[in-house]
Amino acid sequence: MTSGLVSVAYVVASVLFILSLGGLSHQESARRGNIYGVAGILIAITATIFSVGFNDIVAIIIAVVLGAAVGIPLANKVEMTQMPQLVALLHSFVGLAAVLVGFSGYIEPLKASTGAEHTIHLVEVFLGIFIGAVTFTGSLVACGKLDGRIDSKALTLPGRHLINLVAIIVCVVLGGWFLGTESTALGLIALVVMTVIAAVLGIHLIMAIGGADMPVVVSMLNSYSGWAAAAIGFMLGNDLLIVTGALVGSSGAILSYIMCKAMNRSFISVILGGFGQTSSSSAAGDEDQTVYETSVDELAEELHNANSVIIVPGYGMAVAQAQNGVSDITKLLRDKGVNVRFGIHPVAGRLPGHMNVLLAEAHVPYDVVLEMDEINEDFPETDVVLVIGANDTVNPAAAEDPASPIAGMPVLEVWKARQVVVLKRGMATGYAGVENPLFFKDNTRMLFGDARQSVEKLLGALRG
Ligand code: TAP
Repeated sequence: MTSGLVSVAYVVASVLFILSLGGLSHQESARRGNIYGVAGILIAITATIFSVGFNDIVAIIIAVVLGAAVGIPLANKVEMTQMPQLVALLHSFVGLAAVLVGFSGYIEPLKASTGAEHTIHLVEVFLGIFIGAVTFTGSLVACGKLDGRIDSKALTLPGRHLINLVAIIVCVVLGGWFLGTESTALGLIALVVMTVIAAVLGIHLIMAIGGADMPVVVSMLNSYSGWAAAAIGFMLGNDLLIVTGALVGSSGAILSYIMCKAMNRSFISVILGGFGQTSSSSAAGDEDQTVYETSVDELAEELHNANSVIIVPGYGMAVAQAQNGVSDITKLLRDKGVNVRFGIHPVAGRLPGHMNVLLAEAHVPYDVVLEMDEINEDFPETDVVLVIGANDTVNPAAAEDPASPIAGMPVLEVWKARQVVVLKRGMATGYAGVENPLFFKDNTRMLFGDARQSVEKLLGALRG
């Protein structure tokens, strides 16, 4: 394939990636966005394969077959609720690739360079390996935390900010040494020492971040992995990798910003860590509080008499896989003329858009699925709110208790409705480990049990 054709293919792929991102920003166009992305990556891979020599093609095909043999069964096994840890693991691969490509680009540069060009190449190598090593170990820790293999609480070592600062200063000094030395062996020593420090920095940075901030961390690591890929692109002189890396890097950064806003956290305070280890709130430890239970029949009666219903799904709906039953209830009530809508918190579930994907999969019409900002003002005029497996995202302590660890996080103000019914298995806290005073409010009723079973029984009662 001529280099002109490869360039054309890369431009087409870049445009498709941009269209893909545009499509993914709305649920109606998300499917189309995915198709653009898949088409873009197919064109990019085909052009890359045909732009290298025959021996390299064989090596690439062997690598693709081996990767697919491991990846396809793993991806098939992964539950939707395990996607964040899978994404974190995939980010770690990008980080590792940046480290490996960086070392190989230093030991055996693709083309000889001198003067300023050589210095720029060395800076690319150093930065690429640094970002790659932080991304690699940080993503592995994020994966471990999300998967429950590592304690999700923030590890706050004394003087942790100083430790990070010293690590970064040492890396900068090593960078100066690396750029100044003529000897490849000394340069390699500087690179190896910096890689070890960056790897430890990655572990320490993410260990210091608590459970509630993990969504932001995953998206932040997504952004890092993009910049690491862009750095590889510069090293290899591959324009497509630069464009794609920059797209991933900037979209990850924008997503992190949106999530920070949704949790009322500043980006800097998330990165500095230390949040999420406290678990007390006004509801904790107050033994006098009463929990009112309800039954499926009582709830069915309430729903029969309601004019307006808002359903607020959360992580528990995903675990229970209750979305199809929820969709059937929605249809049944809408057919009876009840105004049924959904309120979706930006960090409900365990990954961005988690609830939207589940509801779309269960054929809930898009126009009744509203974002938090679109629906929050409507709760006071709502007859019944069904909270299905959500907890942190409907916690009034965030709005009412300045001492709460999640104080200031915008939440769905479900408690303002006439009646709230919470479907969950017991009184366990949510991901942030914070007690929820919603469960003790006078207008709240608890329907205990697995969300799917409760929803199915409710459907039976509504039909009966
Ligand atoms: P959570 O606060 O995590 O609460 C989920 C609730 O579901 C739990 O309290 C649990 O209570 C209940 N549950 C679990 N399995 C259930 C089942 N089979 N049937 C019924 N209920 C079940 O959920 P949320 O409101 O969606 O909030 C999301 C949390 O995850 C936030 O803290 C957010 O910051 C964090 N997070 C979000 C993301 C993204 S990007 N969305 C990524 C990582 C973390 P029981 O055990 O008592 O049933």
